[in-house]
Amino acid sequence: MSGFVAVASLAEVPPGSKKLIEVNGVEVLLCNSVDRIFAVENLCSHAEEKLDCGRMRAGWIACPIHGARFDLATGEAMNPPATQPIQTWPVRISGDVIEIAL
Ligand code: FES
Repeated sequence: MSGFVAVASLAEVPPGSKKLIEVNGVEVLLCNSVDRIFAVENLCSHAEEKLDCGRMRAGWIACPIHGARFDLATGEAMNPPATQPIQTWPVRISGDVIEIAL
């Protein structure tokens, strides 16, 4: 795993919002939920659809296509039709900057 890289400012991802970024050619979704920033891959593990338009609630995001929900902290699939986790990355806050480790 490489070191942490700065990807956005905290102000760009206010509570309850998400922001799509691209790091090294990978689409990463930054999610501000339950007073914490999460970084997950913008790709559902069921049929590889994008998650950025999905509903986000207390620590999870739902795929907008078939409704599978994923735990933002672990990437774990919480309900069918998805069974596999999505990729997540460690997040670190440095001052007002969001850093992730890819
Ligand atoms: S593509 Fe996400 S649940 Fe089917």
